[in-house]
Amino acid sequence: MPSRKKDESSYEEFRLEDIEGVGRITAEKLRRNGYVTLKDIAYASAHELAQIIGSEDRARTIILYAQKLIGGGRVFITAKEYYEQRQRISLISTGCRSLDELLEGGIETRAITELIGEFGAGKTQICHQLAIMVQLPKDMGGLEAKAVYVDTEGTFRPERVVQIARYRGLDPDIALENIIYARAFNTDHQMLLIGEVKKLIEKENIRLLIVDSLVTHFRSEYPGRENLALRQQKLNKHISQLMRLASIYDVAVVVTNQVVASPDIIFGNPLKPVGGNIMAHGCTYRIWIKKGREGKRIARIIDSPKHAEKEAAFMITEEGVIDL
Ligand code: GTP
Ligand code: MG
Repeated sequence: MPSRKKDESSYEEFRLEDIEGVGRITAEKLRRNGYVTLKDIAYASAHELAQIIGSEDRARTIILYAQKLIGGGRVFITAKEYYEQRQRISLISTGCRSLDELLEGGIETRAITELIGEFGAGKTQICHQLAIMVQLPKDMGGLEAKAVYVDTEGTFRPERVVQIARYRGLDPDIALENIIYARAFNTDHQMLLIGEVKKLIEKENIRLLIVDSLVTHFRSEYPGRENLALRQQKLNKHISQLMRLASIYDVAVVVTNQVVASPDIIFGNPLKPVGGNIMAHGCTYRIWIKKGREGKRIARIIDSPKHAEKEAAFMITEEGVIDL
């Protein structure tokens, strides 16, 4: 598969050194810390950059300058331009018609889609299937591209990829070659891996990044109320890292999340997704999957800016995630 350039717009000609106030040494320092392109700088937070270059004021100036270079000197765009930008978003079919309908076509690039559900709901199964679907030709719902699978729980199964790939008419060997896998051992490692993914995307045609599960290490490393603030802060950083990657490189990010019983809910559903507001605001689309009777699964989109509140039913079988 050919390697893919980022957006082919003219600002790609610029280098970090073209930013006013960034000399060779600063540029090197930024690159070493994973800020490689103009967009990396433009979408960074001043606080974050300040940790590398020292001063927050200087960071703000640099960020603003990078933003101007990208926008051709402009900060605002019209709604029409934004509309045109959104037309360029690509979709990956889930391979299941009812889920695709629920998602109005499939999983979006430039967005984070969160799969929520209790154990055995089918989150990991959907992730496996998406890693295969993204490889399919465009007329079959794919993007003819590769996937990166970051596994935090050790539940990725290549054997399952072989099974699903066969059913989808793909050569299992090729399907396996096109999934780039890493096991994340703790939160720091997980965040470091995302930095590495950026470098991979520059070389390989990657359009899907899966993090299954996003929250496991955060929960176990920062247990209890006393660690909550710290955990949320770090989780926030991780999610912005993912969001930035999704929008800069036009990649679909899919993450999974668990649910826990919440002691302080009096009305309504006692189960809540982990990660509170940080997850709720950080992820673009949230899909809650519930187990039904006889292997049936029900998916529902929650808090979406564009989808209607509706449900879709599907099943998990030998063949993967399929319609009833
Ligand atoms: P946790 O990671 O534990 O939170 O759960 P999850 O939501 O990731 O669940 P997962 O995707 O691992 O779903 C597991 C379920 O998928 C199992 O309980 C099975 O019902 C189903 N499943 C997985 N593989 C197969 C298979 O080869 N055949 C069939 N029929 N079902 C399968
Ligand atoms: Mg799982």
